Amino acid sequence: MSKVTVVGAGNVGATCVNVLLFNEVADQIVMLDVKEGIAEGKALDMLQTATLLGYDSTIVGCTNDYAQTANSDVVVITSGLPRKPGMTREELIGVNAGIVKSVVENLLKYSPNAIVVIVSNPMDTMTYLALKATGIAKNKLIGMGGTLDSARFKCYLAKALNANPNEVEGLVIGGHGDTTMIPLTRFASYKGRPVADILDKATLDKVVADTMVGGATLTGLLGTSAWYAPGAASAYLVESIIHDQKKIIPCCAFLEGEYGQSDICIGVPTVIGKNGIEEIIDYKLNAEEKALFDKSAAAVRATNDILKEIKAL
Ligand code: 2OP
Repeated sequence: MSKVTVVGAGNVGATCVNVLLFNEVADQIVMLDVKEGIAEGKALDMLQTATLLGYDSTIVGCTNDYAQTANSDVVVITSGLPRKPGMTREELIGVNAGIVKSVVENLLKYSPNAIVVIVSNPMDTMTYLALKATGIAKNKLIGMGGTLDSARFKCYLAKALNANPNEVEGLVIGGHGDTTMIPLTRFASYKGRPVADILDKATLDKVVADTMVGGATLTGLLGTSAWYAPGAASAYLVESIIHDQKKIIPCCAFLEGEYGQSDICIGVPTVIGKNGIEEIIDYKLNAEEKALFDKSAAAVRATNDILKEIKAL
């Protein structure tokens, strides 16, 4: 019997739940929100699609009733405010830090063995906060950012290549910020061919730039943060955990020397299975990539430092 809790029944949380249901990832799903009735309403709406879509998972919605989340195998935290146009993810720290901290503490009270997936922004710093506030084992804490950024990278690569996105490989590491993420073009490939052998430099540079502002572009168009790809990326991670798929997924992980960094949660390629982060894979960065990673880590650290200033840690 597998159980997944998604906290936050907003656009991202509800989309994640919807994808989990479609794909029958877990036997039981709980969706929790602070706003009275919203999780119950969305859960009932989704339950009424069971006979239309043919899935067997059960879904329950609740308002702040953490007892209902007890014994979850995986918990996904999407709580907090989304970005408004023109806003950076980092600007959300003041509001979202308190919310994420209390949500993760409540969840672990009822599901002490759960694997925790952090989606709330600024995602790298919220993942670091969850680790420091709870002392959770580092393999059990996963930040979602790189999963989404890599999907966006592959989408833009496929457009530039006029290719099927499922035949394109690409990884984005570093922070989940407009200026901190690092699409690794050297490792990107189309059916095994390095994309740098197919696309000219200007096209590849544009793919990288579009990927980095992928979230901001959507915030500008939608007036709020994106949700289809963030929700699906969260569900993709949950599926790799629940079904022990051991997929290589770039995720925000706590580093202790890997990639030359320590005491930071930041995006690196990981193997995701039933134990959460089962391995951090060393992709042997060259000097230029290493310099970008160090710069990204410095920016994430500067945002982490704000946690102390606002007394969240
Ligand atoms: C994004 O990049 C919400 O941070 C998320 O769309």
